[in-house]
Amino acid sequence: MRILQMSDIHLAADKNDDLFGVNVYQAFNTVMEFIGKNQKKLNIDAVVVTGDISRDGSSEAYQYFYHAMERLALPYFALAGDLDNKTRMSKQALAAKNFHSLDQISSDKWAFLDINSLVRNEDFGFIDNSELAELKSKIIKNSGKEIAIFLHHPPLPVGTPIVDICNLINGDTLLKLCDDYAVRYIGCGHARSASIIKRNNIFISVSPAICFQWINGTHHAANIKSSGFNIISFSDNLYIETYFI
Ligand SMILES: [Fe+2]
Repeated sequence: MRILQMSDIHLAADKNDDLFGVNVYQAFNTVMEFIGKNQKKLNIDAVVVTGDISRDGSSEAYQYFYHAMERLALPYFALAGDLDNKTRMSKQALAAKNFHSLDQISSDKWAFLDINSLVRNEDFGFIDNSELAELKSKIIKNSGKEIAIFLHHPPLPVGTPIVDICNLINGDTLLKLCDDYAVRYIGCGHARSASIIKRNNIFISVSPAICFQWINGTHHAANIKSSGFNIISFSDNLYIETYFI
């Protein structure tokens, strides 16, 4: 089972709007064309998008996103980031035929679960007790399978202060739960900075962004104009490939 994970597209209603020197529509189009042309070679079964699809929460941005995703003719799932408007994002998904829940994408050996880390009107993340309890019960329900979890906010610092000030506040609580139940993979976004950390049994993978990457270690808004995504092979030997375009 090979999942392409992408994150942080940052589309807005105005297609010509510039974000730190980047036209994000061009960046997204370039990535989608690359995936479309190389779909056979990339050998992917599904796509998971870990939030911040739109930076202004506009219906126009979500319409564009779903239309582009539908053209891949692959099952896909998208969760919301702190910049997204969940209501508009869900509304525009209604017409998307290939949009599935993670449950539907899961395989016989792997259960893919998502968890909400959003806090209203804040850019940092927090997972409340009821969501943690729900996650725990889903993990227990899938105890015969390997577990992979997707969320928006990284549960650990990635070493880039401009984003580490707004990561998941209670990342330790999530990681303790994942340790207790031998979760194998956590996939997230938000950081606009690629990072893969192996911690005990868990691979914590922060997907590069589609819009651009912050320069590693930066305190200020300094970016590299490139787009990236991960492909994760969910097999007995889990491995992760990172692509930059
Ligand atoms: Fe974010």
